[in-house]
Amino acid sequence: MSSRKPVIAGNWKMNTTPAEGRELAAAIAAGSKNHPGVEVIICPPFTGLAQAADAVSGSAVEVGAQNVSSEESGAFTGEVSVSMLAGLATHVIVGHSERRAMYCETDEAVAAKAVTAHATGLTPILCVGEDLETRKSGDAVAAVRGQLRASLDGYTGWGSLLVAYEPVWAIGTGAAASPQQAQEIVGELRQELSSLAGADAAEAIRILYGGSVNATNIGPFIDRPDVDGALVGGASLKPDEFLRIVEMTARLY
Ligand code: PGA
Repeated sequence: MSSRKPVIAGNWKMNTTPAEGRELAAAIAAGSKNHPGVEVIICPPFTGLAQAADAVSGSAVEVGAQNVSSEESGAFTGEVSVSMLAGLATHVIVGHSERRAMYCETDEAVAAKAVTAHATGLTPILCVGEDLETRKSGDAVAAVRGQLRASLDGYTGWGSLLVAYEPVWAIGTGAAASPQQAQEIVGELRQELSSLAGADAAEAIRILYGGSVNATNIGPFIDRPDVDGALVGGASLKPDEFLRIVEMTARLY
């Protein structure tokens, strides 16, 4: 726990039709208004951004996209640019491990997305995390620090950045990292940010944990000094569960 404002972000992944997303967003907006001490962000798929943004308008809930192109416009079939997100999203997830693993996104590509997003006023939610093999070989700290540094190459928007530590082996598996493991890596990430951005900027950046977070296990993560919230996948699709995560977080701050 820290003096930084906690963030609970929901990554809906490739789920929800626009109509389902509107309903989910409305339920989250209604339920989270009692917890103004927690910043709540929802990340619907592109096709549901407009409906979700409409459903949360007038509330404090913010909307993020799940990906963005680093290109401005042109012959990039299937891609979505930052200017297309204007008015729909304030945040964007970059470098999620599913994009890195399944769509071959390199650190360099992720850094280009983060830089472009920031340049147009979007706050990147930058994801980093080691795979199981790296964890087992004892190289997780060095790997994740390296990934963070490379994924922020050229980035200067330190006042507008969220980082999510998401160990690949904990995503969608039901086997979350231990709060100690999360704190260890998140603390290392803060040191890495300090060397990139300076100590004051690094102290202010919120770093989230992600990977099988639910309403039952959120508490001990939030209790850790460097963990400032969570990026939630599966549990973010269930409004009651997601709102309990928000409520637990509010209670601990
Ligand atoms: P999960 O996903 O909560 O379903 O493990 C987290 C994520 O991928 O952001």
